[in-house]
Amino acid sequence: MKTFPAQFADLLTPRGRRILEGRDNEACSALLKPGQRFVALSGVIDAHKAAACRDALEAALPDTLSPMEDPIPPESILGMTENYEELLPKTVRVRTAMLESRRSRSYAAAERVGLVEMMRSDSFAAFAAAVSGRPLRRKWGIQVLCYGPGDYAGPHNDHHPEDEEARDGYVDMHLTFATPAVAHQWLIYSKQGHFSEMKSVNTLGGITVYRLPFWHYTTPLMARPGRDEDARRWVLLGTFLDAPAQRRKGTAVEPPPVSAASVLLRR
Ligand SMILES: [Fe+2]
Repeated sequence: MKTFPAQFADLLTPRGRRILEGRDNEACSALLKPGQRFVALSGVIDAHKAAACRDALEAALPDTLSPMEDPIPPESILGMTENYEELLPKTVRVRTAMLESRRSRSYAAAERVGLVEMMRSDSFAAFAAAVSGRPLRRKWGIQVLCYGPGDYAGPHNDHHPEDEEARDGYVDMHLTFATPAVAHQWLIYSKQGHFSEMKSVNTLGGITVYRLPFWHYTTPLMARPGRDEDARRWVLLGTFLDAPAQRRKGTAVEPPPVSAASVLLRR
């Protein structure tokens, strides 16, 4: 049965709809505000629908996940020759559902619950365009991550200087569906050169939107006492490149026209 609606818009609350339509001055174009590279939105996805989505992910995907693991390299300590010169590459441990290949088990399972169709829907990208305030390319990447107990991502910045289309920045949007067995997980991010900002990502139906690159990390997921078995945080992730400045009409996902107050912020 397809739990996920064909259009992402159908998961939204009235506030979520207002954002999609460019009528929420706080959230719309939030990532165009100077210095703001991250926004966390709550009350945007309908709570009952979010619970149904989480249950569908829990039922369909766990057996299809692949581990993604980049541990701390021992050379980062053993290879050091100078004091205080340590360098840490990106470390991570999480599981991922492979959606790049239509033949993968994950893809088939995600397809069955309607997840692929929803993540490919116009309104999914339109929401990212509304919050980021930028026209985005019509082709975007989709991915599903599942954090279990102890899963985390170490400090990294997601900069892609070798990719012409991404080197000047791009947009990520994450939808989170955590199970009740999760005690906590945090996103820590930098502001003005310090890891000073912290936001809980232990949400059911929370949306976070990122204007990358910037430094951030995700703390290890902690389960409630005795609940390791059931503690998971599902992340539905869309990666959006900026539309080229020179483009034909209708070839980008445009942000909605915004109210006068938001226009002032864009200047
Ligand atoms: Fe990241």
